[in-house]
Amino acid sequence: MKYGYFDDAAREYVITTPKTPLPWINYLGNKEFFSLISNTCGGYSFYKDAKLLRLTRYRYNNVPYDNNGKYFYVKDRNRNTVWNPGWQPVKTELDSYECRHGLGYSRFTSLKDGIEAELLSFVPMEDNCEISSITLTNKGDTSAELSLFSYVEWCLWNADDDMKNFQRNLSTGEVEVSGEGSVIFHKTEYRERRNHYAILGVNSKVNGFDTSRDAFLGAYNGPDHPDAVVNGKCTGSMASGWSPIASQQIDLSLAPGKSRTFIFTLGYIENEENDKWEAPSVINKKKAFEMLSRYDSEDKVEKAFEELRAYWNELLGIYHVSSENEKVDRMVNIWNQYQCMVTFNMSRSASYYESGIGRGMGFRDSCQDLLGFVHLIPDRARQRIIDIASTQFPDGSAYHQYQPLTKKGNSDIGSGFNDDPLWLIAGTSAYVRETGDLSILSESVPFDNDMTTAQSLMNHLQRSFNFTATHKGPHGLPLIGRADWNDCLNLNCFSEHPGESFQTFGPSEGPVAESVFIAGMFVKYGEEYAQLAELLHDNAEAERARAEVKKVYDAVLEYGWDGDWFLRAYDAESKKVGSKECEEGQIYIEPQGFCTLAGIGVKEGLAEKALKSVEEKLDTKYGVMILQPAYTKYHLELGEVSSYPPGYKENGGIFCHNNPWVSIAETVLGHGDRAFDIYKKTCPAFIEDISEVHCTEPYVYSQMVAGRDAKFFGQGKNSWLTGTAAWTFVNVSQYILGVYPTHKGLSIDPCVPEDFGDFTLTRKFRGGVYRINVHTNGSQKGVKKLTVNGVVCEGNVIPFDAAVKEYDVVVEM
Ligand code: BGC
Ligand code: NOJ
Repeated sequence: MKYGYFDDAAREYVITTPKTPLPWINYLGNKEFFSLISNTCGGYSFYKDAKLLRLTRYRYNNVPYDNNGKYFYVKDRNRNTVWNPGWQPVKTELDSYECRHGLGYSRFTSLKDGIEAELLSFVPMEDNCEISSITLTNKGDTSAELSLFSYVEWCLWNADDDMKNFQRNLSTGEVEVSGEGSVIFHKTEYRERRNHYAILGVNSKVNGFDTSRDAFLGAYNGPDHPDAVVNGKCTGSMASGWSPIASQQIDLSLAPGKSRTFIFTLGYIENEENDKWEAPSVINKKKAFEMLSRYDSEDKVEKAFEELRAYWNELLGIYHVSSENEKVDRMVNIWNQYQCMVTFNMSRSASYYESGIGRGMGFRDSCQDLLGFVHLIPDRARQRIIDIASTQFPDGSAYHQYQPLTKKGNSDIGSGFNDDPLWLIAGTSAYVRETGDLSILSESVPFDNDMTTAQSLMNHLQRSFNFTATHKGPHGLPLIGRADWNDCLNLNCFSEHPGESFQTFGPSEGPVAESVFIAGMFVKYGEEYAQLAELLHDNAEAERARAEVKKVYDAVLEYGWDGDWFLRAYDAESKKVGSKECEEGQIYIEPQGFCTLAGIGVKEGLAEKALKSVEEKLDTKYGVMILQPAYTKYHLELGEVSSYPPGYKENGGIFCHNNPWVSIAETVLGHGDRAFDIYKKTCPAFIEDISEVHCTEPYVYSQMVAGRDAKFFGQGKNSWLTGTAAWTFVNVSQYILGVYPTHKGLSIDPCVPEDFGDFTLTRKFRGGVYRINVHTNGSQKGVKKLTVNGVVCEGNVIPFDAAVKEYDVVVEM
């Protein structure tokens, strides 16, 4: 069952009922001001940091789903009805409803009793505000008497403290109002240590306003029944403590066929320390009025909206495919890349599953996300790499996350995850392969944000590499530390008491427990490190690196192979994890995918066997499960992985993030049919038809789909902020469609199903435009002939030549 459809020409997903199985959301904002917005107008806004600078309040663990939001109420005074363009919070049945989630904007069109509301929300490219332009049209044949009410509830900035510290916070709220209510200023804590305030303004005279939540809603009421709206009259309340809000009331008469548009601006304003006040206790509003004047007409809003569209046109022109499969095209050209950009902006901080007050920018996560957006925004990716590397410790290890506002690392969600250091090599290598910009390697970058310790980025990578090379266990395999990519494989944790976080409890490292997965990473990224050393003409270092890699490669073959698949790990007592000798959790997906894509066991025939085992033991109709059999008991020696009920999350869920590893691994072996089959199973556009099973948004990936052992097999969770976005894009763009950036130039080596048909691809790369025509000739893999601008090219790599700007490429497979 579907709840909408893709409009590819408009690059929108069109939701045709507000009653989706879960809130289906979108992200507004590209730089510093962001909003989450759902298909019922739920969501919230923040500036830079979802925890520390939250503008509007959201209610967690909400019932009904998805409140708070930024709401508009339409009151029809003749009929005495109240409704919302996004259906919530009043939930009056609408005569028609449509929500179009587009790239950085959402548009709602609803009709009730002949009155149409069209609401467009977006964040302009270069401003710290969200624009909501709402047009009311009388489509009926009698004159309409309407009142429009806006409503946002302010968050007292620190979203974490806002939910806890009531003894203080219920006394700090302060507001100002100007223009008889057309601009409402939220200035809590501005009198003391803050130099910022928030505004909600409208480009029109108003007939009333409220700034106190209790006055607007009435005691014991929710936003589904605001007294002010029901009574048709705001009260002019001035909040003092308690819960400040902003609501404006505009009364209007609309003759049949007539429309009126109102532009609301929700903004964040920062003043210089010495320019905070215009009079004692009166905030300096200059910048706020300047902001409002930038959007006070429909023309100005239209222009800002066009800039946003132009931005996305430009970005999505960088990698564009035209194939015989419209689902592949819409994911590759639109939604997968869009999701990659959202993970660039949010990392794992703010979604409907990440509260924005828990996790910040993950070290591992952000490095991997980079793989998916580096081609889109190389300059910002460069800065991101420097920011991440600046939080690294001198011994090469890393904080697991940093806060976007401060850019400083913290251990709030643990540290000592021994895969972290190697992801820095992965991200940097991807950046250099994409851009050819070697200068980043000599950038001076601090450790733990202490500038006095700064060394070159290449030195950071060397410490990453050496960290793994010098932290090995009894089998010569890398020590796992607190965990590796699988945060829940806590082999040194031994947590016995409820409430202890598996991510922070216990020692961060043990001397015995080893990870075969990190071994796979070391082989892959160790080689990429060696290539970077060569580019810097340090052949001795490249040679040393390759020798270290060889040792780990051999250790995997000797101690990391279980007969039919790769082992997962050795625990703190050196017992096997992910082995047929285990009672539960006999096979894990991660080493099968990653060791194979790193090339381990390919020539020895082990990789082929490992992937067969994956197909036999882990595959399902909804994707490949992370492990089997799922743990039915809590294993003290394994930690969080065995804490989830079977089939959920790391305990046997379909963890979408590592499905592409297996798909890539299949392409390494030349199995185009199988690689594509795996790709399709978790790909949102391919499972749109079962949205009632999948439940999460059909236009983006979720972190997890419940596995076969779970009651709700096939149900998605944790949509949007997942490394799945980057890895599936890497898989489909670089391995399946086969356009992979190398240091020397683009390599072309597609691996597709036999019946995939021909395809054409445009790829912008280091200032050149590549138009690539692929004739698959019913083959799954193998390029027989490659011509570039009419000249036959030896091998698969199109040599990069800065002087050539246009490349017409013809590929015969
Ligand atoms: C989740 C993991 C996540 C970790 C982050 C765990 O509870 O299962 O998926 O990576 O928390 O701290
Ligand atoms: C989600 C985390 O964000 C990611 O870093 C981790 O690798 C996976 N869960 C698997 O545990």
